[in-house]
Amino acid sequence: MPLTLIDHPLADVLITQLRNKDTTQASFRDCCEKLTYLLIIEATRSFGTENIRVTTPLEVTDGVRWQREMTIVSILRAGIGMVDPIHKFFPHASVGYVGLERDEATAIAHRYYCKLPSLENRHVLIVDPMLGTAGSALQTIEICRRHGATDIGLIIMFAAPEGIEALKVKYPTLPVYAAVLDRELNAQKFLLPGLGDFGDRLFDTS
Ligand code: PRP
Repeated sequence: MPLTLIDHPLADVLITQLRNKDTTQASFRDCCEKLTYLLIIEATRSFGTENIRVTTPLEVTDGVRWQREMTIVSILRAGIGMVDPIHKFFPHASVGYVGLERDEATAIAHRYYCKLPSLENRHVLIVDPMLGTAGSALQTIEICRRHGATDIGLIIMFAAPEGIEALKVKYPTLPVYAAVLDRELNAQKFLLPGLGDFGDRLFDTS
């Protein structure tokens, strides 16, 4: 499975601010937005474009437009924070939501919601800031495939090596874009060093 990590000091600074337990909710949300910009730039690098002609105020010249439309599939809840920044670049992207929550005792995610637009012939980008065991991502990939998606990428921010390994076994060719690879999962399947619960910090819940 091709894994691309963002290699840029702008990302390193944002990752540090997200990790910091003293970062306020407002600042956390702001960092989430900015880090998503850096990720979407990387995740769309190989998206196909087609040539068009464009008229400037002075003359007609060559330009490009996207070949294929995009659908964002956001894993609730934390993935919500990544939708708006992607819409800044892809204002016409349709959006699907898959609601998954990990059982705190077993760390297995159960589905409580699913609403997806058509996924055929689209670039489908699944977004979730955290990849732990990869249980949530694997379930979402399966759901998207059952809905007709054939071109799927996954954008995360903080990835556990265990989750990356699980994805590699099941989907060896699926592209994954991450901001950083963390060290390991602890006994409760939380990332280390991590940042705690992304959803709680994004929405100021506990
Ligand atoms: C967190 C996180 C991912 C998932 C990662 O969500 O946002 O969706 O866990 O873990 P996994 O790779 O082991 O499945 P959580 O279940 O805490 O739900 P929330 O976003 O509603 O807080």
